[in-house]
Amino acid sequence: MAERTGAVTVRIDGEEHRTEWPSGVVLLEALTRAGIEVPHSCTEGSCGACVCRIVHGGVEMKSNNVLDAADIADGYLLACQAVATTDDVAVTYDD
Ligand code: FES
Repeated sequence: MAERTGAVTVRIDGEEHRTEWPSGVVLLEALTRAGIEVPHSCTEGSCGACVCRIVHGGVEMKSNNVLDAADIADGYLLACQAVATTDDVAVTYDD
């Protein structure tokens, strides 16, 4: 599969940011590289500090010891574990 770079729009603290999201890179890493500060702690899928919610697009989590099926159905995801499965993704930390 060819390397591709998608994009992610992030809403946090009432502001919207848009940046690149390279394939295979977890969301937290993509945002950190872009200088967008978002909450996190363990970076291992265990604490839930990095939880955000998907608004548009698709993601897949490498590991998840926090969210249950109902959370995932509601769109919640762990930024430290999520890789993009679509080119364009939007997430929010605000609600
Ligand atoms: S930082 Fe702990 S679950 Fe993502």
